[in-house]
Amino acid sequence: MAPHGEGAPLDPTVAQVGRQPISSILIVIAMQTEALPVVNKLKLVENPHSPFPEGVPWVHYHGTYKDIVIHLVWPGKDLSLGVDNIGTVSASLVTYASIQALQHDLIINAGTAGGFKAKGAEIGDIFLVSHVAFHDRRIPIPVFDLYGVGSRQTFPTPNLLKTLNLKSGKLSTGDSLDMTPQDETSITANDATVKDMEGAALAYVADLLKVPVIFVKAVTDIVDGDKPAAEEFLQNLVAVTAALDEAVDQIVNFITGKCLFEL
Ligand code: ADE
Repeated sequence: MAPHGEGAPLDPTVAQVGRQPISSILIVIAMQTEALPVVNKLKLVENPHSPFPEGVPWVHYHGTYKDIVIHLVWPGKDLSLGVDNIGTVSASLVTYASIQALQHDLIINAGTAGGFKAKGAEIGDIFLVSHVAFHDRRIPIPVFDLYGVGSRQTFPTPNLLKTLNLKSGKLSTGDSLDMTPQDETSITANDATVKDMEGAALAYVADLLKVPVIFVKAVTDIVDGDKPAAEEFLQNLVAVTAALDEAVDQIVNFITGKCLFEL
């Protein structure tokens, strides 16, 4: 992934790995409802010897699909409240720990997102994300403002996009499901079509540790529509995750036997 905007050169380690067939991928998924259908579809099993520190709720599934070793991590449930560890903090931690513990050539962040109908998003759409940025890190001091937004281009996958006939758009990340007027201003400035709670944080970690990352996001709710996001999200979650797991399966199939630069 090229840091901070378009056209920056790829890291040499990525360039080197990019010429050999992809042999291992890491899939990061924030919610159990999103993760389990992918686990089942790719016939992954939970690793009883977790590579993560003792006591953390993060869950590691693994398996082999054709010639690719697949690791899937889900940040698990909050130890006191029992709900999924969604959001940027858990996403960053689990991605960092996974990269440190496991070998992979490519990261896929898969999950649900809110979509903007004004930018062409519809419920059930699957987006392959071209750029990510934050919308809730407002720091009105020169250069810190850019740091807060944390805009990054994702690893380019033009052949994947074309072959799977997915939609392409920019993703904006924040730690809230709803959207304040200030968030909306930032999301508009980010030119985002989809909005999630993990993407830009994962991109930061992947960039730091020089691992290419792509984002596949399925739209559960229309942010600029009439219904409250939480209600529409819960209503569509199960149906939309079925479309998401199908897309992840197709992406893994497409990746099989290819090098990074063929994606
Ligand atoms: N995930 C699904 N819908 C979302 C929304 N509206 N905002 C952030 N993350 C989401």
